[in-house]
This record gives sequence, C-alpha cells and structure tokens, in this order.
Amino acid sequence: MEKVSVVLIDREVQSLQRVRELLEDAPGIEVVDRSTDLHELDFHLSQRIVAVILVGPGYQIEDVTPILERHSVDLAFVSVILLAEEVSAGHLRQALKLNVRDVLEVSCSREDLLETIQRAYEISRKVYSEKVLLGEGITRKEGHPRARVVVVFGPKGGCGKSFLATNLAVGLEVRKKGPVVLFDMNYQSGDVAIMLGLFPQYTVYDVMADIDGLDKEMLSRSLTPHGSGVKVLPAPLEFQQAQFLTDRATGKMVRLLAQMNNFIIIDTDSSFSDHLLAVLDQADHLCMVASNEVPSIKNLKLGLQILGKLNFPEEKILIVLNRAGTKVGLSPEEIEETIQRKIDAAIPSDKVVPISVNKGVPVITQYPRSPVSKRLFQLVELLSAEKVGRGR
Ligand SMILES: Nc1ncnc2c1ncn2[C@@H]1O[C@H](COP(=O)(O)OP(=O)(O)O)[C@@H](O)[C@H]1O
Ligand SMILES: [Mg+2]
Repeated sequence: MEKVSVVLIDREVQSLQRVRELLEDAPGIEVVDRSTDLHELDFHLSQRIVAVILVGPGYQIEDVTPILERHSVDLAFVSVILLAEEVSAGHLRQALKLNVRDVLEVSCSREDLLETIQRAYEISRKVYSEKVLLGEGITRKEGHPRARVVVVFGPKGGCGKSFLATNLAVGLEVRKKGPVVLFDMNYQSGDVAIMLGLFPQYTVYDVMADIDGLDKEMLSRSLTPHGSGVKVLPAPLEFQQAQFLTDRATGKMVRLLAQMNNFIIIDTDSSFSDHLLAVLDQADHLCMVASNEVPSIKNLKLGLQILGKLNFPEEKILIVLNRAGTKVGLSPEEIEETIQRKIDAAIPSDKVVPISVNKGVPVITQYPRSPVSKRLFQLVELLSAEKVGRGR
C-alpha cells in the first residue's frame, strides 16, 4: 500500500513529539518531516509533494491565515489539518473558508486522527489525479525558487571531490550565480573549511543539534562566510560528533538551505551512506568525480551501477574526470569505453592545485587563467545553464 506522507508543524518540539507518538507505527502513514518553523508550511504547500500537513495546536488559525491565503490553490493538492485545544463552530467555519481540510481537537483519539488523515489524503489524491487527467499544471509556483542542489561525489578518496566542490562554489559566486552554500557532508573528516582557509565558529554539529527548532535566521547566522561570498556549513571539528548526525536531519538541512539560496554544493565522502541517499533525493546534479587511474575508474563504474539500481536519473549525472591528461593515466577514450558514457568535464593535473590547497585559497580565484580554472569555469557555466545534463 502506498504510504501517506505527513508533515508535522507546531510551535513547540514537545507537542510535535506528542503527535509523532500518536502516529508511531500507524499503518500506511509516514511522517516525513517535523518542524517548529512556519516557513515549512509555506515550503511544503508550494512544493505540493507531501499529502497531509498537521499544524498546531501551538500555532493557531490566526498564525497560519496569511500563508493559507497565499496558497489557496495549492490547498487542493496538499491537505492541511489544524489541531486545536478546543474546536468551536466559528473556528471550524473560519478554517473551512481558508480551504483547511479539517480541524481536530488535539485530545482526539488515535483512531480519529488516523481516519482524518486518511480521508484528507484521499480527497487530495482525487483532486490530483483529476488535474493530471485534465492536463492542468501540478508543479509548484510560489515562494523562493528552490536552489539547485549539486552533489559532488566519487566512490574513491583523494580523487578531488573537495577541491572540485570548493572551487565550484566559489566559481558560481564569481560568476554572480549566488547566493551559494557549500555544505561539507564529509562528517568524519571534512576539509572544506581548511581548503578555504576558514576557522568556523559553528559546524554542522551545532546547527543540526536542534534541527526541528532551527529557523532560517538562526541557520543564516550559523554559516561561515568566505571572502568570495560563499557561505559554508562546515563538517564537525571532532570526528566523534559525526555519530550524532542523522540522515533525517541531513535531508532536512538541505531542504532548509534550498529555500534560501540559489545553489547548494555538497561535498561528500566516498560511501553510499544514508546521508548521501537523503541528499540524492533532492539533487539536481550529481558530479561523479574520478581520477584517471584504474582503481578510480573501476569504482566509478561500480558507483554508476549502484546509482542505476537506485533508479537515480541518469540525466542528472555529470562525469568529471580529474587529473586528466597525465601521461601515465588512462586515456579519456579508454575511460568512456569502460564506463559506457561520455565524460562531461575533464580537469587537468596541475601543481597550482596543491599549491592553492596548501595556502587555503581556491585555484579559481588565485590562478583564474590557469587551464584548471578554465575547465572549472566551463563546469560552472554548465551547472548554471538552463538545461543541464546529457538528457539522452
Ligand atoms: N587536478 C589536480 N591537479 C593536481 N592535484 C590535484 C588535482 N585535484 C586534486 N589534487 C590534489 O589531490 C588531493 C586530494 O584532493 P581532494 O579534493 O582532497 O580529494 P577528495 O576530497 O576526493 O578526497 C588534494 O590535496 C589536491 O591537492
Ligand atoms: Mg574530500
């Protein structure tokens, strides 16, 4: 049976937890997000992806009225159910006028709650399929356009992921495509901050400690600014802290960042971790980085096979060959033959890279005319073009 995706929004973490417990193990229901931030209501309504949003009782009808008025059309696709301490007839009338699907007393039984969610879901699904049949638009159309999420991955350490992620982020700012956030998701041994010569006050560990209570202002204040304009969300300073970071929080972090920026560049480690899977769901582009050595290409091929099994859309993948053209390595033709795909970008090997890495400055601003930077800028243009990917 298809599960109903439910989002919970309330002012207090404790009351979110109470409703969460009521829905625990409920058959056919999956709580995909919880938040104390009303911006999430705005966001989920404009996305039209989740089926049901439960709001309250800490937030009352007056708090949500402006958002619901703005999204009156979206409310046909996404059902909002208000939870209130007490429901009066006037209250109900007011809510129905706003296209709220139902109002429930928070002290209602679990059965009532489940039944209301199910009913609300069925109404939305019916509207949705009718609109699809009629060929009417069902895509989001309001709010801040969601950022492009670029994941830089490569199933082998040392192939140049962090070098690429840092330079792409800075390159996008140089070409005025910002605001750009660079998220270091290599939680165990991230080195984005050091590659950019930064000494962060806060890391992802501090920011994700209270992910449900985190609002946009707080998040913005916690990012570390780089001189180029890029804002960095650095990996934890101590590797033991990585174990406290959940994939749910990682996914939510990207969703939140995507509401406030034009680009999110995510640096990763070399594993198909739950964190990676949580962000792949949201990725618009996946740069698969490999160097031109046999083990790296073997792992690239394996990685592409895994992505295929995960049904990750092929047109979102960009193959980036790093340290291309070294005489001892494989030729691009040999690599394309092995992986059965075209290489989308080839970045040469050059000593300017380790020089810049060691200085903590990006190549793309330190040596903008070097062949490495020229290729990096081409990739920046490709990522910021209207239509990206092979689309074949
Ligand atoms: N194109 C290149 N030319 C020369 N050295 C490079 C190049 N790309 C990466 N390197 C070097 O390789 C090292 C590993 O790169 P890094 O980005 O940290 O890899 P990863 O993040 O995949 O583990 C860096 O110290 C960098 O100096
Ligand atoms: Mg790295």
